[in-house]
Amino acid sequence: MLSHHQTRPFKPEKLKPPRDFNAPLLLSDKRLIIEIGAGKGKHALQYATANPSDQLIAIERTRDKFDAFQKLATSAELDNLMPTHADAIPWVIHALAPASVDGAYILYPNPEPHNPNQQWLNMPFFEFLLSRLKPGSQIVLASNIDSYIDTAYERAVQTWCLPTERTPVPIDSQRTHFEVKYLARGETCWQLTMTKPAGYITRFDDWLASE
Ligand SMILES: C[S@@+](CC[C@H](N)C(=O)[O-])C[C@H]1O[C@@H](n2cnc3c(N)ncnc32)[C@H](O)[C@@H]1O
Repeated sequence: MLSHHQTRPFKPEKLKPPRDFNAPLLLSDKRLIIEIGAGKGKHALQYATANPSDQLIAIERTRDKFDAFQKLATSAELDNLMPTHADAIPWVIHALAPASVDGAYILYPNPEPHNPNQQWLNMPFFEFLLSRLKPGSQIVLASNIDSYIDTAYERAVQTWCLPTERTPVPIDSQRTHFEVKYLARGETCWQLTMTKPAGYITRFDDWLASE
């Protein structure tokens, strides 16, 4: 029996690997963390520096942001940080095994006000993402947009049936460029911390891309 109430199934077999895709080199002695929409990599660099026993794969789709991120990452010489230029959706499908990820960050995603189907928790892909997480691991999502967080919270609890905490981001937090900008403007930023419970079942728990 599924652990969620999403009816529209995601079709991973329809998505080709991203252009120039190479399977990531996973460091077997480290926990695997992914960041989706890493921007210029401020959080990724901080996180990889502060957590040497984790491997962070930080994915960014926009070329100029990724180039800035990669430049910083190259000079930081962190062997546990892997900046990745790709659309995270096909990348996750083709790169990750079921129940292999120890945590995920989605910080200040594009709000998509005119296209709510593209908000991460509204996408059927979210079920696939959950299938890649280990039981007990967490997805952290932050946004400065109340309505985005309201909808995401409702989806997390009602549709995805995830234990979810909603907390304000501390006003001195400086994880990302967008976070710094919003907090400096006096806006409240919110964070959802969603936990994949033990025994959680998706339709992709045995699905592995065949390359
Ligand atoms: C509003 S920016 C936030 C960037 C960064 N997290 C920050 O807080 O400064 C959202 C980022 O997500 C990236 N993005 C959106 N959809 C993506 C996808 N499917 N795969 C990878 N990156 C994506 C965009 O290119 C953009 O850089």
